[in-house]
Amino acid sequence: MPTALTAGSGTPAPVVAAAADAAAGRSRGFRIGDINIWPPVVLAPMAGITAHPFRVLCRRHGAGLVVTELISSHAIHYRNQKTFGMFDWSADEQPAFCQLFGGDPATMAEAAEIVVDRGATGVDINMGCWVPKVAKTGAGAALMKDLCQAEAVVRAVVESVGDRVPVTVKVRSGWDRSDVTAIRFAKAAVAAGVKSIAVHARFASQGFTGTADWSIIGQVKEAVGDSIPVVGNGDIETPQDAKRMMDETGCDAVMVGRAAMGNPWLLGRIALYLETGTLAPEPTVAERIATAREHAQLQVAQMGENVGCKELRGLLGHYFKGIPGAPRIRQALTTVKTLAEIEAILDGAAEWHHEASLAAGIAPEGAQGAQGA
Ligand SMILES: Cc1cc2nc3c(=O)[nH]c(=O)nc-3n(C[C@H](O)[C@H](O)[C@H](O)COP(=O)(O)O)c2cc1C
Repeated sequence: MPTALTAGSGTPAPVVAAAADAAAGRSRGFRIGDINIWPPVVLAPMAGITAHPFRVLCRRHGAGLVVTELISSHAIHYRNQKTFGMFDWSADEQPAFCQLFGGDPATMAEAAEIVVDRGATGVDINMGCWVPKVAKTGAGAALMKDLCQAEAVVRAVVESVGDRVPVTVKVRSGWDRSDVTAIRFAKAAVAAGVKSIAVHARFASQGFTGTADWSIIGQVKEAVGDSIPVVGNGDIETPQDAKRMMDETGCDAVMVGRAAMGNPWLLGRIALYLETGTLAPEPTVAERIATAREHAQLQVAQMGENVGCKELRGLLGHYFKGIPGAPRIRQALTTVKTLAEIEAILDGAAEWHHEASLAAGIAPEGAQGAQGA
């Protein structure tokens, strides 16, 4: 059974509500198997980032679908309790897919069954992780080098849970530039019963360097046609980027990773822009502080104060990226051990923003205590 976590009100953010109104009757959502996804904006799986609290916030702020970080099928096989905690979820983050990695078909099939038993709305197979710890075991992006094995893994997972939930894959363009494997693999994946393919348009050998080559997303879309949706991923930073990717590649949905860190509003702003062409404003400082606070509360409620605060030290700084006062806020967060310490820092954050803005000769914006400036 899924673990019931309390995750706030689930009230949609205003931008999302506006996009929903605009979309009434002309939804540009997409379907993964039997599941309707709207808006066509997916939060990318990110290790250390897309834990339950952030997934809830992203759903509320406008993601149509969220995905756990990659989870080891072997750890699930061995009933590792810490690993089980990685896919605790609550009703208000559904639909939520669980991403698994592993190169052994039987273990992947078993792990898929376990996560579906515990409430996953879908199972995503990781074929994009290039880090040696994963790839040297034949998992992640290493599967792009061995399409027979990749197909065996996909077929085993589809056989195991495909009649209960959709099975999807997330791939890189290929292992390296010598072969754009994603295009060939996409057709095999459809034949094996996959219901959606997400393409991070970089080769595994690139890591995160260079720029994503969106033309490969377009070629994958051309290869699979309308048989399954293609989700485009790589370097989306603004609502306009998302629209450009959809226009240029014909992909059915966009997936956003790094730019969403500390910025769940981006997902709703993308949704609104795709639906109406309206560019919603960036969040105010007060909104950033309030959401960082909620993230901290959810995280500590789920993980406990010790583990939760350690992770929050790095995570919360993302909410203040690019605004005056951010370095001081980030620095203060680096040593926090309790939720009370975090709350105290956030209580002072608007004032620090105000002071740093004045020192830099910039008008402070939006924060309580800094109004009208
Ligand atoms: C910190 C971090 C962790 C990531 N972890 C995962 C992961 O667990 N599974 C996965 O498929 N991709 C993972 N990725 C890759 C992202 O899902 C995404 O494909 C990549 O960041 C490109 O999208 P972006 O340009 O929007 O960030 C990770 C990326 C980052 C930055």
